[in-house]
Amino acid sequence: MGALSGNDFSDSPPLQPFEESDWSIPLRGGARELSDWPSCGSGRYDWLRALRGFFSSVQSVSVRERMAVGRRALSAVLLLLASACGARALENGLARTPPMGWLHWERFLCQTDCRQEPRRCVSEQLFMQMADLMVLDGWKDVGYQYLCIDDCWMAPTRDEQGKLQPDPKRFPSGIGKLADYVHSKGLKLGIYADVGNKTCAGFPGSYGYYELDADTFANWGVDLLKFDGCNFGTLELLAEGYKTMSLALNKTGRSIVYSCEWPLYERFQQKPNYTEIKEYCNYWRNYADIYDAWSSIKNVLDWTSSQQDSIVDVAGPGGWNDPDMLVIGNFGLSWDQQVTQMALWAIMAAPLLMSNDLRQISPQAKALLQNKDVIAINQDSLGKQGYRITKDNYFELWERPLSGGAFAIAVVNRQEIGGPQAFAFSTAILGNGLACNPTCSIQQILPQSRDLGLHNWISFLKVVVNPTGTVLLKTSVNEEMFVVGHGNSHSPDVL
Ligand code: GLA
Repeated sequence: MGALSGNDFSDSPPLQPFEESDWSIPLRGGARELSDWPSCGSGRYDWLRALRGFFSSVQSVSVRERMAVGRRALSAVLLLLASACGARALENGLARTPPMGWLHWERFLCQTDCRQEPRRCVSEQLFMQMADLMVLDGWKDVGYQYLCIDDCWMAPTRDEQGKLQPDPKRFPSGIGKLADYVHSKGLKLGIYADVGNKTCAGFPGSYGYYELDADTFANWGVDLLKFDGCNFGTLELLAEGYKTMSLALNKTGRSIVYSCEWPLYERFQQKPNYTEIKEYCNYWRNYADIYDAWSSIKNVLDWTSSQQDSIVDVAGPGGWNDPDMLVIGNFGLSWDQQVTQMALWAIMAAPLLMSNDLRQISPQAKALLQNKDVIAINQDSLGKQGYRITKDNYFELWERPLSGGAFAIAVVNRQEIGGPQAFAFSTAILGNGLACNPTCSIQQILPQSRDLGLHNWISFLKVVVNPTGTVLLKTSVNEEMFVVGHGNSHSPDVL
């Protein structure tokens, strides 16, 4: 067992080239009026049409008829309102901020040979060790809560009652016992299943068993389900399966976070309907599996910025875009690239699911993953996803609106040759001109924390960024004007 099937993304459509508009001053931002939001904005037109229809129809009829017409028009308007502003999140009360935890896949894959690889095989021992470390080494204290099992935990067949069962050699105590252990540590347990006939690694799929599997997971005390989409059959079955499992999980009465890959599998054939996906899922993968490599991080960022007009507004409390696991603390990323992943996953309001070996992680990677200021940006209660506002030669500028009028700003240096490069920009382009209006304090958060002082709305900032690295800043708006200090001209380099 162990050969992966169904994971071939070589047919993926090529990444979209950067558009002309990507180079310009931001058109989008956190300062928009409610009426500008696309989901309600399109409804405004229908509203007006309905009202116009109502008024023209009441001109030449009796009072009774007018009242009936009025009632009909009112309910039509209410219905339109509900659908126009109806990007509702899955109402299970969960994932109000992006979930945080650990997921085995990227680092441990489908190693099932515990005799040869006792420390690296997918087994209850591995998860118990990770649970211990999540508590002992401070991961739980900073918010990493979900300990998640990915593919390859199952026995090759269901039991006599048709129930999924764990591999008896690798999980001899059973998943229920493992959940008890994880809960005794104050953590939560995640598990993996697949909407189709088989999981991506060839273990039993949930097709035809959605309710039974949901009940089994709830009885075991599972707190999160990652529901993969390999071997799904038709697009109708894919959508049907994701919805049925969502309803089945809710029916169990247990709080189970629901992680989907629905748009990722759908995208090859049709445009995902994110309004619908958000009604059923707490977070969802859009793009191919992440690897422990800079090229993979770059692909995720390029894809996300190229699609931001359709995916950013959908994210919010209860439903998040998932750019896949954090691979910080592994082998493939340089220090600067790890900083970029952490900073941009915070900007993107991404679930923070580490896939690394907590038994062997460098103090530097641990400090980055446990950086409270970055985590606070990721977990910000406003729940708005950030976006790229401009791309200028090799530099990219991203921002994320935060609660209290604050903004997180990431300056990414995409150049892969030479040394540190300076990038200067005006505070006027941040937050559609509001981030520093009239004044703001700016704190640098990554790569090191430092106070960059007070600025005003026409200040220039100059940051120096290492190749493939990122400088992450946070602006906090001040209401008072102040006597311009170093804010009116180029401030000193910040590295
Ligand atoms: C798919 C998913 C991955 C992982 C593997 C397991 O490729 O996208 O995240 O779960 O399956 O087989």
